Amino acid sequence: MSNHLESSATELTRRRAEGADALREQVKEGYTRVVASFDDTERANEAARRIGYDDEQLAAVPEGTNLGVGCGNPTAIDALHPGETVVDLGSGAGMDSFLAARQVGPTGRVIGVDMTPAMLEKARENARKTGVTNVEFREGHIEDLPLEDESVDVILSNCVINLSPDKESVYREAFRVLRPGGRIMVSDIVLEQELPAAVVASVDAYLGCVGGASLRETYLETIQKAGFAEIRVDRESSFLDAFALDDPMVQGIVEELGLSAEQVKEYAGSVTSLHIFARKA
Ligand SMILES: C[S@@+](CC[C@H](N)C(=O)[O-])C[C@H]1O[C@@H](n2cnc3c(N)ncnc32)[C@H](O)[C@@H]1O
Repeated sequence: MSNHLESSATELTRRRAEGADALREQVKEGYTRVVASFDDTERANEAARRIGYDDEQLAAVPEGTNLGVGCGNPTAIDALHPGETVVDLGSGAGMDSFLAARQVGPTGRVIGVDMTPAMLEKARENARKTGVTNVEFREGHIEDLPLEDESVDVILSNCVINLSPDKESVYREAFRVLRPGGRIMVSDIVLEQELPAAVVASVDAYLGCVGGASLRETYLETIQKAGFAEIRVDRESSFLDAFALDDPMVQGIVEELGLSAEQVKEYAGSVTSLHIFARKA
């Protein structure tokens, strides 16, 4: 490579890294605001029922754990067994971590990983409220997990990976930390068609797990490229089924971009929530 081309490539890598860092900062700020402004458990529970949680599960977690920011119920994709080690990528206030902890029991453990200090604080406060001893929350990026190779049986994640500017690294890391035979159980948002640039550019859309999402084929290919086998979509639902259009988050996006009711229907209709299972062979 000529010196000129080499420096352009280095520059591009540097800009991409800066872009990824800036995006992560925006996401972090957004979720710090989500924790600080959360005040409607009933609305969050209604949203959770629509995406696959039942009343017994909602009653089992302390108030302030379900912040209404998931897009499925990854703990319902496959059974978790007593004694297993589970990692929850982007664990938020701990919703799926606490549900998983009940299933793996006292001989198992759950490690929630999140990059937003306010979320980690909330999750740890919730852990103290429940008195659970088999759950811990670690600060870290899902693109560079603070975990040993082949130390985990199951990776859970709920509406997080779509936010990452580097989904390939996320799935590569998931593969690295899983033991052979380990599973991933992920709820996430994908697109059936590209969204207009203005929607993608909207920070609010990003925080609503839409702006950063990839096309369905690209997303599933990323899982395959990381080395996973037995990839299957267990369940899927339209964003329109999962989220109420009068949700304040959706309303924020609509107002910011001045979208018409038809546009909202069209864009929301091209967003799908998938429940994905895959195995490290
Ligand atoms: C949509 S919320 C979902 C939280 C939780 N999974 C739930 O369903 O309640 C996204 C969470 O992922 C975290 N997050 C987003 N990108 C991340 C990254 N690259 N590394 C670690 N955490 C991330 C955010 O801080 C936030 O807590």
